Amino acid sequence: MSARNRADIERVSPAQTEATFTVAGQAQRITEILAQSALGSRAYWTIRVDGVLAGDISLHAIQRGPVQTANVGYMVDAAFRGRGVATAALRLVVARAFDDLGLHRLDAGAMPSNLGSQRVLEKAGFTRVGVLDRFLYVAGSWQDHVLYEMVGTDFVPDVSG
Ligand SMILES: CC(C)(COP(=O)(O)OP(=O)(O)OC[C@H]1O[C@@H](n2cnc3c(N)ncnc32)[C@H](O)[C@@H]1OP(=O)(O)O)[C@@H](O)C(=O)NCCC(=O)NCCS
Repeated sequence: MSARNRADIERVSPAQTEATFTVAGQAQRITEILAQSALGSRAYWTIRVDGVLAGDISLHAIQRGPVQTANVGYMVDAAFRGRGVATAALRLVVARAFDDLGLHRLDAGAMPSNLGSQRVLEKAGFTRVGVLDRFLYVAGSWQDHVLYEMVGTDFVPDVSG
């Protein structure tokens, strides 16, 4: 799936190595995701439509203590786009993040040109915070990012750890 969507991934993500788009590279990626998940800094889901792999969605940089926050990112295979798949997945992950993982806040960024991703965030209930100036080095230059957030219910965080 990554190889099939390589052009889109490279258009919106930091530079990937050639290995990313090989079976070995994806195996390495899965190993890293599992390690981060075991540490509690990541939560990752595949997206399936009628049982067929259609994308993935992930909470990165999960932080506990007084912030209880994470960054969300997602990708839908080109064959499944334009029918609400990303929006449905994001809504499910928002519920997991707040109800099961006990987070207080989520954020997500999209390049200004990525209107589809911004629309997904808005449909899922995220609020546009503003534009981060030259935030991320993508496709050979520092790109602005539109920052979105969603804040859940207030609670007293566990700051003992
Ligand atoms: C962005 C992405 C996840 C959207 O997935 P999807 O399953 O097609 O999303 P949905 O169908 O849930 O919603 C897409 C919305 O964006 C809109 N949209 C798509 N392209 C658009 C464009 N160029 N301009 C304006 N709106 C656009 C669609 O019309 C739809 O809105 P609507 O329901 O109001 O009509 C998918 O295109 C993708 O994986 N892109 C490559 C990777 C990527 O950009 N990931 C996000 C990084 S921030």
